[in-house]
Amino acid sequence: MNTIEKVSPFQPESPVRPENFEGRKEAIDKNLPFIYQASQGYPTHFFIKGKRGMGKTSLADYFKYIGEINCKMLAIHVLNDGVHDVDSMVQQIVERLLNEIKRETWADNIMNTFKKHIKSIEFFNGKIEFRPDKETINFLKNNFPFFIEEMINKIKGNKKGLFIIIDDINGLSHTSDFSNWYKSFADTISTGTRDLPLIMILTTYPENAQKFYTQNPSFNRLFKHIDIKGLKDSEIKDFFTKIFKQVGVTIEKKAMDYMVRFTSGLPNMMQEIGDGIFWFNTDNIIDEKDALKGIIRAGREIGLKYLQPALDNSIRSESYLSIFRTLGNDFNKHDLGEEYTFRKKT
Ligand SMILES: Nc1ncnc2c1ncn2[C@@H]1O[C@H](COP(=O)(O)OP(=O)(O)O)[C@@H](O)[C@H]1O
Ligand SMILES: [Mg+2]
Repeated sequence: MNTIEKVSPFQPESPVRPENFEGRKEAIDKNLPFIYQASQGYPTHFFIKGKRGMGKTSLADYFKYIGEINCKMLAIHVLNDGVHDVDSMVQQIVERLLNEIKRETWADNIMNTFKKHIKSIEFFNGKIEFRPDKETINFLKNNFPFFIEEMINKIKGNKKGLFIIIDDINGLSHTSDFSNWYKSFADTISTGTRDLPLIMILTTYPENAQKFYTQNPSFNRLFKHIDIKGLKDSEIKDFFTKIFKQVGVTIEKKAMDYMVRFTSGLPNMMQEIGDGIFWFNTDNIIDEKDALKGIIRAGREIGLKYLQPALDNSIRSESYLSIFRTLGNDFNKHDLGEEYTFRKKT
């Protein structure tokens, strides 16, 4: 097939689609029962912590998929990166919820009720825009548990409950506003009505999780904690085998050994390596040379996306630097042509 017509099954720039999700068996086995339990009316909060690119969003999305498909919950994923205050976060959640509900055929009555009560809802190109004034947002913020409860009661019958991901709460770690607000939200929810199917998932970097704890030592107690680290070699192997199989490609053992080794547990590296090899490979089998060329391509991509900006900020990213060192040593042993020789730039 012509390269121009190929479509890569890899996703180096986005969270993985649930059907291509691989590994994390322990986290899934442990937490799926809590998801099902929550959908029966027991509000549950999850806190996913891991470094950048480790797969927090992908895991949260995977749980969301289960929540939507198996538990029939109404689910939203709020990308919170760049949000620095609780007001904006609440505004985003409400706007996303209203938009999600609006898509449902049964939702007309609900939308009309909300329109009556909340002035600042506007329809814009078929999408709801929610731009509340200070008074409205304060009211919503202070009464958020009741807003959520009312929302759940309204959708019940059509949906089982609510599933909310607040992804990347990093920007909210600078002051204690969020940790205090969330603690009070979660406490009010848990002392309220018994039957409240609500799942909340928050995600952040480990160092920011520590800040929330320092600000409010009770914050941690609210959650089921999920700490994600590198993928296992066997999981990486399964991923490559499965995804390349989708496009009719098999992998030679030596090639697979390199692919697993250079992924070194990092899910983002795994996607880059898969993608790099996908674009080089021209037949239905990946041999050693295809693998090494793809790995170099992946290394360059990772360099541009993660390493260069980090170095520009004078932050030393040791894990990536060590990958590059190993890459250099390994690759110069093979004759891959001038373009693939690892040399120090002069
Ligand atoms: N379990 C997984 N299976 C396959 N690919 C994954 C998995 N977890 C993460 N990835 C891939 O790794 C990269 C980073 O994942 P992402 O969920 O965006 O990480 P984070 O939210 O922690 O920054 C993405 O390209 C994603 O497709
Ligand atoms: Mg993410």
